[in-house]
Amino acid sequence: MKQIIIDLLAKYIKLKKEEIEKLIEIPPNSEMGDYAFPCFVLSKKEKKAPNAIAEHLANKLPKTKEIEKIEIKGPYLNFFVNKRYFAEEIIKLNSNFGKLNLGKGKKIVIDFSGPNIGKPMHIGHIRSTILGDSLMRIHNFSGYNPIGINYLGDIGLHIGKLIVAYELWLDKDALKKDPIAELLRLYVKFCSKEKTEVQEGQEEAGEEFKNNEWTNKAREKLKLLELGDKKTHKIWQEIISHSKKGFDRVYTMMNVNFNETTGQSLFSIKGKTEVFNALKKGIAKRESDGAIYIEFDNLPKKYVLRSNSTASYITQDIGAAIERYKKYKFDKMIYVTDFRQELHFNQLFQILKKLGYDFSDKLVHVGFGTVNFGKEIMATRQGKVILLEDVLKKTIDKSQQEIKKRKTKGNAEIIGVGAIKYSFLKNDPVKDVNFSWEHSLNFEGDSGPYLQYSYARASSIIRKSEKSKLKSKSKNYNIPELTSQEISLIKKISEFPEVVEKAEKQLNPSIIANYSFQLAQSFNEFYHSCKVIGDDCEAFRLKLVNAFRTTIKNSLYLLGIEVMEEM
Ligand code: ARG
Repeated sequence: MKQIIIDLLAKYIKLKKEEIEKLIEIPPNSEMGDYAFPCFVLSKKEKKAPNAIAEHLANKLPKTKEIEKIEIKGPYLNFFVNKRYFAEEIIKLNSNFGKLNLGKGKKIVIDFSGPNIGKPMHIGHIRSTILGDSLMRIHNFSGYNPIGINYLGDIGLHIGKLIVAYELWLDKDALKKDPIAELLRLYVKFCSKEKTEVQEGQEEAGEEFKNNEWTNKAREKLKLLELGDKKTHKIWQEIISHSKKGFDRVYTMMNVNFNETTGQSLFSIKGKTEVFNALKKGIAKRESDGAIYIEFDNLPKKYVLRSNSTASYITQDIGAAIERYKKYKFDKMIYVTDFRQELHFNQLFQILKKLGYDFSDKLVHVGFGTVNFGKEIMATRQGKVILLEDVLKKTIDKSQQEIKKRKTKGNAEIIGVGAIKYSFLKNDPVKDVNFSWEHSLNFEGDSGPYLQYSYARASSIIRKSEKSKLKSKSKNYNIPELTSQEISLIKKISEFPEVVEKAEKQLNPSIIANYSFQLAQSFNEFYHSCKVIGDDCEAFRLKLVNAFRTTIKNSLYLLGIEVMEEM
């Protein structure tokens, strides 16, 4: 509803829609209208008194079916929305409610999740996975053709480290029993050896130590792998296969899918070719030790090839971006990772531009804050991890207990996974999130299960009505004198398409999560104050309940959260 007023005003005043949106107020009581627009800002621009501007505007604005009347209150324009009109619209809505055609079928590649082979998926990976999945759904719903890519970290120094450790310390029985745990043990053991070697003042660049005996061993393994050494290759393949199985278990539990899963290693050659091209063109330079780097006007220089001429993370990203553009001719490609990779992506985009790839303008990095637990940051190197699989399992167990305790129905997996997804998605991506077991296992208030429950409650009303004899009445509905709770609910429901659009434009699923909560609250207030079955307004209210069901279902779908008919 608000959007209609914004759109209308935008045609008659010289302000941007975003500016108008910020200015619109909700009057202190409904007798003063549903929305108010203060004319002070325009007064400066047009050098007229605000009251005069308000009067002038009120005369100019056309009559529309959505707006019942516009009143002038001093410098304010008060808008009275035609609620009956909106009520009519809302009870007619169908299961596609909120779907938009903003994208007109344009291709959007979304690169998300991308865990590293050999390391377990921990709670730090959850944000990229569920944010990416939600962005996929939001784009699909808005009429784009999204393509989800899981770019596995199947190569890189961590792989070199793991291969060294695998050859030295592998416990075969342990690997059989729990491959993910054994690989983590190997990795942590390697890192502790590496760390004890670090001398005073020696710098740590990412995970690379210069002149460290252990790091050098890992570099050598990586070199062997690139050269196609059989034995090294075989170990690598084993590690990949164990890891992928572990990842797939998590994706299945979370109901997350990809259109393409490709390892970084696939792009080493393409990336290196581009790096050598850059060297030829003078875009890149060579260090005396052989390493190749690129300099920028406004960013720190970036090494694009190691001194032993193996490809690094950025080398592969250069190759991957070019190959993907060739394959998909995308209109946009979104990379979803932690903010700590912001510089990496800025450098990547500029390198592609320098290389003459104009599609670099279509690349976007969506960064998000860290997941902290306690006061510490997750560090796989030290074995300080909370495994994603454990988090999911525990939450599902807890859901099972709650179902038993309350003697209710519901699917523990859907509830548990919904709880986890919501507890992360409700936070603005830019913010850090503190993970606590207590928080993510809390099913009251602003939580996934609360939202799912509001859907189940609405479904139960519909079921009861179908059983009751009054069913025939529900065909003919009259829109009654609306109560304030009905009006609030109608207003909230009608916001949904605008909310989807905003979330898509801002690449921010938390907008949908927060909306879902407000919508459920609005429904619960309606439920507690308006009788549905057996009331004179039954037919209309049933339609309203149904409209709510569709809206909350679609809204939760965009977050990757499923609903249940009974709970
Ligand atoms: N594997 C990386 C990580 O764990 C994420 C990959 C992101 N995608 C990319 N094209 N670089 O941080």
